Amino acid sequence: MSKDEFRWYVVFNSEKEQNEYIKEGRLSKVLVEEKWVCIAKSSGELYAFDELCPHQNYPLVHGHCENGKVECPLHKYKFDLKSGRGHGLSLQTYPLKKEDGRLYIGFKKGFWD
Ligand code: FES
Repeated sequence: MSKDEFRWYVVFNSEKEQNEYIKEGRLSKVLVEEKWVCIAKSSGELYAFDELCPHQNYPLVHGHCENGKVECPLHKYKFDLKSGRGHGLSLQTYPLKKEDGRLYIGFKKGFWD
């Protein structure tokens, strides 16, 4: 996966802002352009993924994460936070990067077309 494949959008403008909003094991929802995504922190790592569960579109923000997996609160399916895989389904994940204290999320070029 080349970083050039992505267009990057600011999620948080500072480390302070990020730390106030993102807590270990909890899920937060952020609006990027026109799309809601979940941001999660598990074992100190940050992850980004679609806000809706790929099983029956339940909002994942009401779930929780631990050991690198997010658990949907409706049917308790778990999805790997890196690959998005779980129960034969695939949760769309997005890359994150930090630069100059800011946190960015990447969407593949053409995502919004
Ligand atoms: S809707 Fe998420 S596991 Fe069923």
